[in-house]
Amino acid sequence: MTYPVELRNVSFYYSAGTPIQVAALKNINLKIGRGELVGIIGHTGSGKSTLISHFNGLLRPSEGSVIIDGEDLGNDKETLRAARFKVGLCFQYPEAQLFEETVAGDIAFGPKNMKLPNDEIQSRVLKAAEFVGLRPELLDKSPFDLSGGEKRRAAIAGVMAMEPEVLVLDEPAAGLDPGGKNEILAMITEYRKRTGCTAVLVSHSMEDIANIADRVIVMNGGTIAMDGTVNEIFSRSAELKNMGLNVPEITRIFIRLRELGYDVPTDVYSVEKGAEILREIIGRRSPL
Ligand SMILES: Nc1ncnc2c1ncn2[C@@H]1O[C@H](COP(=O)(O)OP(=O)(O)OP(=O)(O)O)[C@@H](O)[C@H]1O
Ligand SMILES: [Mg+2]
Repeated sequence: MTYPVELRNVSFYYSAGTPIQVAALKNINLKIGRGELVGIIGHTGSGKSTLISHFNGLLRPSEGSVIIDGEDLGNDKETLRAARFKVGLCFQYPEAQLFEETVAGDIAFGPKNMKLPNDEIQSRVLKAAEFVGLRPELLDKSPFDLSGGEKRRAAIAGVMAMEPEVLVLDEPAAGLDPGGKNEILAMITEYRKRTGCTAVLVSHSMEDIANIADRVIVMNGGTIAMDGTVNEIFSRSAELKNMGLNVPEITRIFIRLRELGYDVPTDVYSVEKGAEILREIIGRRSPL
């Protein structure tokens, strides 16, 4: 059985063999199934970005192997090139890397590298821009004229325009206001619904991960400390706390309510859902 992404005994050292060597990944074993949406959380420096940079061969493991769609990336250049297109990686703060003259040029960068025909590139650029909600008149502007949120959308559109089998986004909503953040997350959910692609989302936000992911991986000190469903992971709040992570506040409120004897669910990860449940309970108690 092949997986879109598989890592076997992967370790990675920055500045390997020097006095400043950093062991950023330590013996990682991981299989990501087709169509999964995997959320990766972990404290700053836990290895999240280093991990996902292995998924498309951007970083090569110091030890172990990375296997994409059954092909070991260690084998040859062609396999590595294919992996770059199969796994679309959008970096943390991607707007820093917009560098073409126009927004359209930036979105076209990946598809051009894929050597697609020009008309196919054009149609993909328009489709991706529309999908992420960039108005057509922005396409001829310089990326530097865009707002922060628009730049982020343009960078994500550039990865989507490659139509990768695996979409990997490193902190796609970081630094955006709550409205912008929710729009980006809704966009990712919608994109997955439409394409059925496999997706990996790195986030600092436990709320975001809980609301969007099927499976959660917790990184800690370069290792996978936990791997399970949202409910499995969030029920281990004491261990999470030791890794500098907190379950969402709203979840903690519901866990506390349950401890106090109230008949409430504890898998509540959004304030909206919490409010809905409380409204229903209050409604039940007071017929007025
Ligand atoms: N280019 C680099 N050179 C040397 N060390 C690095 C480099 N990039 C990251 N590191 C180190 O590798 C470890 C893992 O870093 P990484 O960026 O993967 O963590 P992260 O979980 O993505 O953090 P953040 O949440 O801040 O984005 C950290 O100790 C970090 O200091
Ligand atoms: Mg990072």
